[in-house]
Amino acid sequence: MFIRNIFLIIIDISYHLLIKQILFIFNPESSHKFIGKFLKKSFLPWRYIGNVLNVEDGNLFTPYFGYYIANPIGLAAGFDKDCEYLKAISNFGFGYITIGTVTVQKQYGNQPPRLSRLRNDSALLNSLGFPSIGMHEFLKNVQQATEYSKTTFLTISITGKSIEQMVESYKFLYEHCDAIEINISSPNTEQLKIFHDDKNLLNLLKEINKYKNSPIIVKLPPYATSNINEKSELLETKDNVMRLIDASLKSEVDGFTISNSRPIITNKLASKKGGLSGKLLYESTAEMVEDIRPVIGNRTVINACGGISTGSQAWNLIKLGATTVQLYTSLIYSGITLPNKMNKFISKKLQSENQNNLIEFINHD
Ligand SMILES: Cc1cc2nc3c(=O)[nH]c(=O)nc-3n(C[C@H](O)[C@H](O)[C@H](O)COP(=O)(O)O)c2cc1C
Repeated sequence: MFIRNIFLIIIDISYHLLIKQILFIFNPESSHKFIGKFLKKSFLPWRYIGNVLNVEDGNLFTPYFGYYIANPIGLAAGFDKDCEYLKAISNFGFGYITIGTVTVQKQYGNQPPRLSRLRNDSALLNSLGFPSIGMHEFLKNVQQATEYSKTTFLTISITGKSIEQMVESYKFLYEHCDAIEINISSPNTEQLKIFHDDKNLLNLLKEINKYKNSPIIVKLPPYATSNINEKSELLETKDNVMRLIDASLKSEVDGFTISNSRPIITNKLASKKGGLSGKLLYESTAEMVEDIRPVIGNRTVINACGGISTGSQAWNLIKLGATTVQLYTSLIYSGITLPNKMNKFISKKLQSENQNNLIEFINHD
């Protein structure tokens, strides 16, 4: 235990004092590609790093679509869009990992600059617009990675500009993962808005249900919550998101990710608009989870997503009704020891609040 903690401190200090300092000199997209080169290297001792990062505590087991995952902290979509880093990131201590979003065909995405840091807010702006190697190459990466190590619950995030595209990628990929997340909420692809109409969403889910044999998660767009005072006309209304939830429940979806990055206007990106992610989203995420849990009842999974960066926030969201929490931006700002710290916090909270374990505490059945 002592040696493990020393390693954790060393990883933490190296990230904050060295790696992050170097990465943050460069533009965020170049930094991501650079770090990606290391994450792809199989000579690095990821398994040993995993032994240090994983929190082995049976009390953290979390009920998830009929399975028990090791803990409630997940990796959100977008970090590993092409499934290139799965061997490495499955050792970071996450209870589940979302890879993608993958598109049917290979595509470049939007013009740069399309990713920007707001350092003072620990936030990011992105207008990537789904750069993707396309689902055929993506599947090769999934197969190669899962052959080598398939230890963590794996969700694939898919998207498409039409029902046909969505169904095509669903049919192609669903057998190669544990769940499919349908991304209808990226702010950077205008055509996705067709699925913000509940009738279209209903039609989409009806088509997908013809092939369904594993859990389906719908990643919802954020709505204008009470704490948002910036340009909320870009955001969906709460009423409309509730209609999307209703359509999803009628179609028997198994879970919701609440929610995606928040649409904003900005001069920092070539497209002049994009998605905001990171700490600034936390309050909205909490409000949405609190609103939505009573509406959907206890049986449907909620993955809270947006601005989560501490164990205390994760704990609070679980109390508000989330089954799991997932993150992306805080991993960039806080480094790979973050899931470990969050899980340890939750473990301590269970004890201090006299709870036996998360299975009983979440109790969404
Ligand atoms: C650079 C970047 C790329 C992203 N790409 C995707 C994506 O491909 N699919 C998706 O569903 N969400 C994507 N997201 C959104 C995240 O999954 C997440 O919903 C959002 O960032 C809010 O969580 P966070 O505050 O923890 O980052 C992306 C976010 C960022 C910052």
